[in-house]
Amino acid sequence: MENRPLGESGIEASVVGFGTWVLGGGTVWGNDTNDRESIYTLQAAIDEGINLIDTAPAYGWGRSEKVVGEAIKGRRDRVIVATKCGLWTDDERGSFFTEMAGRIMRRSLRPDTIQIEIDRSLRNLGVDCIDLYQTHWPACPPDKTPIAETMECLLKLKEQGKIRAIGVCNVTLDELKEHCACGPIASDQFRYSMLYRDPERDILPFCQANRIATLTYMSLEQGLLTGKVGMDRVFKPDEFRSNADWNTWFLLPNRKRVLDLLAGWRDLADKYHASFAQLVISWTAAQAGATHVLCGIRNVAQLRDNLGAARIKLDPADLARMRRDVVALGEPARL
Ligand SMILES: NC(=O)c1ccc[n+]([C@@H]2O[C@H](COP(=O)([O-])OP(=O)(O)OC[C@H]3O[C@@H](n4cnc5c(N)ncnc54)[C@H](OP(=O)(O)O)[C@@H]3O)[C@@H](O)[C@H]2O)c1
Repeated sequence: MENRPLGESGIEASVVGFGTWVLGGGTVWGNDTNDRESIYTLQAAIDEGINLIDTAPAYGWGRSEKVVGEAIKGRRDRVIVATKCGLWTDDERGSFFTEMAGRIMRRSLRPDTIQIEIDRSLRNLGVDCIDLYQTHWPACPPDKTPIAETMECLLKLKEQGKIRAIGVCNVTLDELKEHCACGPIASDQFRYSMLYRDPERDILPFCQANRIATLTYMSLEQGLLTGKVGMDRVFKPDEFRSNADWNTWFLLPNRKRVLDLLAGWRDLADKYHASFAQLVISWTAAQAGATHVLCGIRNVAQLRDNLGAARIKLDPADLARMRRDVVALGEPARL
């Protein structure tokens, strides 16, 4: 597995990262996540060369972090643990964000809530230090902590040895620049896939020019781009994949277009002896500015498949052809 730098932090992390939102389970993931299987899969991933593990307190309200903590016992020195702060459910501090899995979630990047979150994450993960600590969503009004204040708090955590590097998620370009003006930002995490290419306009070029690592998420479009989500698969209404704002490509007419797109790449799959997931991950990791691809992984079969992407190097002509095809696909219809 190729490792790439996490910005200028001195940390090297695997190009394919293990995304653990699904390991938090709950209604958003269909309620069928199995902790024993999750731990086994994480350990297999570490043993086979994935060192970047991305989690967050919000994934199953601590469940994902605890599962990661259990899995890395005895393997800590081989893992880059990335977690987050800023989605707050304890009380009314912060600003309303959304309701998920029965809880009101607020965005808070106040130093007083971060202090509570960091100690809880260290406990959940069973570690003394978090390698990459990321703000999960930017603060917003009415309780909008200035970026400089949040950064001061994060830099203090770094001085105290509780974290090794600072990352951000889901920020605009202006917000990213404001963070960078306050201190070193190792990474930016955001949604990016061949079907959702908005970050190519601003964030990816900025990160590339400023040596900031990029951790892309939903690059498999939550499984759709693996080709395994057929026209007959039905998601429960409270599953995240039923959220048509985020997962517009899952709507049946759009889904059909994606399945047809993948079917048109059968010759590429044969040429590289690759699955569609491997083609997609490899394409994503080859794009300008894209350094790390976070893949949500539920079991060992998915792990082996996604790991296989690391051995593929797509020819420039094939990369260009895939881009032409996804551009030709256009936007998903919003029903
Ligand atoms: N910072 C943020 O705001 C944010 C937001 C979203 C995600 N993230 C991070 O990014 C990670 C990745 O995003 P994601 O998990 O939402 O989406 P994703 O990686 O696009 O999709 C994950 C899902 O795809 C399916 N899958 C993965 N590999 C597969 C394979 N080889 N074959 C068949 N199916 C496969 C699994 O679906 P099944 O469940 O059906 O098995 C899995 O749950 C997250 O886990 C999280 O760490 C961060």
